[in-house]
Amino acid sequence: MMTFDFQGKTVLVTGASRGIGEAIATSFASCGAHVAVHYYQQGDTADNVRNSLAGTGHIIVGANLANPVAVEKMVTSTLNEFGQIDILVNNAGIYQEHPLHQTSYEDWQTVWQQTINVNLLGTANVSYCVAKHMIERQSGRIINITSRGAFRGEPTATAYGASKAALNSFSQSLAQYLAPHNIFVTAVAPGFVETEMSRAVLESPAGDFIRQQSPLNRVACPEEIAHTVLFLASPGSEFLTDTIVDVNGASYLR
Ligand SMILES: NC(=O)c1ccc[n+]([C@@H]2O[C@H](COP(=O)([O-])OP(=O)(O)OC[C@H]3O[C@@H](n4cnc5c(N)ncnc54)[C@H](OP(=O)(O)O)[C@@H]3O)[C@@H](O)[C@H]2O)c1
Repeated sequence: MMTFDFQGKTVLVTGASRGIGEAIATSFASCGAHVAVHYYQQGDTADNVRNSLAGTGHIIVGANLANPVAVEKMVTSTLNEFGQIDILVNNAGIYQEHPLHQTSYEDWQTVWQQTINVNLLGTANVSYCVAKHMIERQSGRIINITSRGAFRGEPTATAYGASKAALNSFSQSLAQYLAPHNIFVTAVAPGFVETEMSRAVLESPAGDFIRQQSPLNRVACPEEIAHTVLFLASPGSEFLTDTIVDVNGASYLR
């Protein structure tokens, strides 16, 4: 792995109690950063992640991103602990299947609301609170984890695909708005990644078909997404602002 230096930098990673967020937290800590490991329900797991990180001074912060009050408290408590946030990684997200034919109208509405509340509004609210602080300091990086599904479509998880497409658009608008403040915003759009979110489908008979979507005949590991995030957060990547990086092993060309 390319070596990055984040000595003395502070990073807030949402959804870092497991999966891609955990790998991002681990990679930043290995490169010298102090990390705020955000979680929702898995506080114990987040604490284990915090304890496993290289270096010292890491914290855990909990919040349901669907709750705007909890989001603001979470950002405030991170700032109280760290004094500043140099890098925000909006990674937390949910994926729920809701194939139209097999979903009641009531369930359809529930899934749409939950998905948009967490993936889009939650991310927008965390970004608002952190960007206010970054504007004061005239410095910062925001990296949003979106998805290949934003471009390729999610036939049985339409709300998820729409939430991630909206998040790409949000990233690019925010990049334009914040660039004059020396704050750079990018997105990473992974294809399938080996985590709890994808485990069931990757272990099902559909798993081989999914792996074959890439000419590498595999899906990504979380560390490969983390690598791209660290690259985008590192000095020298400023002019990439507003970009959306595909990390999908050539499984979908756009
Ligand atoms: N895995 C893939 O194949 C894949 C592909 C493309 C994009 N992505 C995106 O990558 C990101 C991470 O995915 P992953 O596979 O690592 O997911 P994961 O293993 O399912 O982990 C999800 C994380 O989000 C947190 N979270 C869930 N609901 C939340 C809520 N309401 N408020 C705050 N946090 C919440 C969870 O916290 P707790 O565990 O503490 O509750 C957990 O840390 C997501 O945005 C996902 O859409 C994943």
